[in-house]
Amino acid sequence: MVLLSVQDLTIHYKVASGWVRAVENVSIDVDSKETLGLVGESGSGKTTLAYAITQLLPKNAYVKGGKIIYQGKDLLKLSMKDDGTLDIFNEEIRKIRWKDISMIFQAALNAFNPVYKVGDQIIEAIMAHKDIEYEDARKEVERLYEFVGIPKDRIDNYPHEYSGGMKQRAMIAMALALSPRLVLADEPTTALDVITQDRILLEIQNLQKETGISMILITHDVSVVAEVSNKVAVMYAGKIVEKGSTVEVFKHYAHPYTEGLMASFPTIVGEKRRLASIPGSPPDLVNPPKGCRFHPRCPYAKDICMEQEPPLIEISPGHFTACHFARELYGGK
Ligand SMILES: Nc1ncnc2c1ncn2[C@@H]1O[C@H](COP(=O)(O)OP(=O)(O)O)[C@@H](O)[C@H]1O
Ligand SMILES: [Mg+2]
Repeated sequence: MVLLSVQDLTIHYKVASGWVRAVENVSIDVDSKETLGLVGESGSGKTTLAYAITQLLPKNAYVKGGKIIYQGKDLLKLSMKDDGTLDIFNEEIRKIRWKDISMIFQAALNAFNPVYKVGDQIIEAIMAHKDIEYEDARKEVERLYEFVGIPKDRIDNYPHEYSGGMKQRAMIAMALALSPRLVLADEPTTALDVITQDRILLEIQNLQKETGISMILITHDVSVVAEVSNKVAVMYAGKIVEKGSTVEVFKHYAHPYTEGLMASFPTIVGEKRRLASIPGSPPDLVNPPKGCRFHPRCPYAKDICMEQEPPLIEISPGHFTACHFARELYGGK
C-alpha cells in the first residue's frame, strides 16, 4: 500500500542571482513498511525534498508544482499559500508532523537545545502531542532510550554531556517518540565515526524490522543504501535520474551517474575503501546545463545529451532511468 506519493514535485529557492532549481519534477512512492534510499552527491536536492515532505522548507523556498500525497491527502493543498511558499505552522500539518511523519535531521548533533536536559526535551515533545502526564511520558522516554541503546540515567544529562553517537541516538528516540508511520532520516550517520556509523545503521535496520515503520533514508553513500533499503532513488542536480528496487538498480544500473556513484563506494562488493569520485562537480542550479544535467561530467556524453533532456523511461519493470543511452548501458551488463 502506498503511504506517501510525491508526484512531479518542483521546488525552487529564490536567491539574489535568480532561482535555484533544487528539486524538479521529482516523483517517488513509499509503501508501508518499506525503506527507500535516496542517494546523490551533496547539492543534489535530497534535503530540500525531505523538508518539502515534512513541510519545513525555509522561507525562500517556493513550490512550483506537484503533489505530496500522504495517506490520500495532498499535504501541499493544506499548507501552500498563493505565492507557493508553505505555511509551516498550519494546524493540520502540525498534527501530521512528528506524529505521522518525523525526521532525523542531518544536523542532529546540534538539534537539541543546550540549556535543557535532553530527556526533558523529548518528554516535552510527547506531552505536546499526547494527553499524558509527566511521569508516563518519562516512562516512554525510558523505553525509547532502552530501544536506541542509551543508558536510562542519561535522561537527565544536558546535550553537551552526550557524545556525538549518543546525541544521534537521542535524535532517533525523538523521531520515534510519537510512533510515526514514516521517518525521514537525512544523512543520519554522516557526522559520526565509522564504528558508530555502523552501529547506528544496524539499529535503524532493526528498528525498521521491529516496528514496521516506513523510512526514507537519505545518504550520499550508496553502500548504506545497499545495506538498508529495498528501493532506491538516485538524485542528481535536482532530478531523479534512476529509481527502482535496490537489487535491480545496483545490478543493472542504466545511468552513468549511478555507475559513477557505485564506483566511488565499492563497499557493495565488500571492501571498505573509497575509490575515485566522479570527476568534476555538480552544476550551479541557478543555471543548470542544457539537455541532460549530467552531460558535462558524463563519460558517454554525445551531442544529443547537450541538447535534449532525457525522459525517465521504464527500462525494466519498476526500474526507471533518464539517459539517452540507457539501453546500451543496461544491455552491456
Ligand atoms: N535556503 C536555501 N536557499 C538557496 N539555495 C538553497 C537553500 N538550501 C539549499 N539550497 C541549494 O539547493 C540545492 C540543493 O540543496 P540540498 O537540498 O541541501 O541538497 P543535498 O541535501 O542533496 O545536499 C543546492 O544547490 C543548495 O545550494
Ligand atoms: Mg542534505
